[in-house]
Amino acid sequence: MAQRLIHLMTPYQMGSFTLSHRVVLAPLTRQRSYDYMPQPHAITYYTQRTTPGGLLISEAAVISETGLGSPRMPGIWTKEHVEAWKPIVSAVHDKGGIFFCQIFHTGRYSHVDYQPNGQPPISSSTKRMPGEIVLANGKDVAKASVPRALETEEIPHIVADFRNAARNAIDAGFDGVEIHGAHGYLVDQFLKDSVNDRTDRYGGNLENRCRFALEIVEAVVDEIGAERVGIRLSPFSDYFDAYDSNPQALGVYMAEALNKYNILYAHIVEARFEKGVGMDESLFPMRKAFKNTFMVAGGYDGKEGNKAVSSGKADLVAYGRFFISNPDLPKRFKLNVPLNGYDRSTFYHPDPVVGYTDYPFLEF
Ligand SMILES: Cc1cc2nc3c(=O)[nH]c(=O)nc-3n(C[C@H](O)[C@H](O)[C@H](O)COP(=O)(O)O)c2cc1C
Repeated sequence: MAQRLIHLMTPYQMGSFTLSHRVVLAPLTRQRSYDYMPQPHAITYYTQRTTPGGLLISEAAVISETGLGSPRMPGIWTKEHVEAWKPIVSAVHDKGGIFFCQIFHTGRYSHVDYQPNGQPPISSSTKRMPGEIVLANGKDVAKASVPRALETEEIPHIVADFRNAARNAIDAGFDGVEIHGAHGYLVDQFLKDSVNDRTDRYGGNLENRCRFALEIVEAVVDEIGAERVGIRLSPFSDYFDAYDSNPQALGVYMAEALNKYNILYAHIVEARFEKGVGMDESLFPMRKAFKNTFMVAGGYDGKEGNKAVSSGKADLVAYGRFFISNPDLPKRFKLNVPLNGYDRSTFYHPDPVVGYTDYPFLEF
């Protein structure tokens, strides 16, 4: 008989939130928010994945018009966005879920077509992201545009946009926010020295490169309270060509700096499949340095997730692709039964049902 995944299914107290298990819905962009507005079909999608006392993190929600870079992403910068999110959040709450909103800005992962008045996208530097992106019409692809490096004096405005987005998320009913500092988007473009070549106080040494992220944390904490703030980081990854010459030092520096703000959780995306990175070794110092809830994500199945919790490597494990294809993932882990496979071709499909809310549930 298959071994039970008892550790993964154990309750956990995250600050004031009582989680009934450790299986978290990872933030997952699904590109079904037409006109950048959250849609009613998201109610079905999120409630399918809600368990009483389960933690869900929303797909990345964009903090301002300059933060757009993919089709059909939901916004969180206007009052209309807030109203559109409300029924989704409230439906998750009705089922007993705990719901955090991931807030982000794409930075150089964008194209002039997405930008107000066709301006260049913003970044920490003028280094262009290699590769192509899908344009707003959802069909054409083009090279990411050459970005413009933010002026030092402009940075407080972007920090203010994160603050506004956090306020909006709380107004929409979310229990908290997760600042997206991972995956080569704007915050990561400041953190990583492969992108950030600034010579002002936001570039150069570690302290300077982390300043933008920490100013965002400070503003968001000030706005909604540290007990409702998490951050996602991927120091060891090189998504969209954002990587660091010393990821270990970056991770530990951030963990220690975040402690000063006493934020609720740190959520680390592991580079478990990348060359030569033995994550078990490299994540440990960061885990040790961070004093509050520590969440991991990246290539976990039930058995590996259970091991991460039982070994003390993490308090919580976020699941992405398997949660797309298994709306009842916690139940499947509880029973330790087989998982549905996922279909990549429909991850970002615009259809409100196909590949979104039509994955089968267990029948017992
Ligand atoms: C379709 C898709 C969309 C994603 N969107 C986001 C996102 O909006 N924000 C984010 O931080 N990560 C995003 N990710 C990364 C996932 O949250 C997760 O870290 C990654 O899929 C690895 O976990 P897994 O192996 O359990 O899928 C996305 C991944 C996928 C497959």
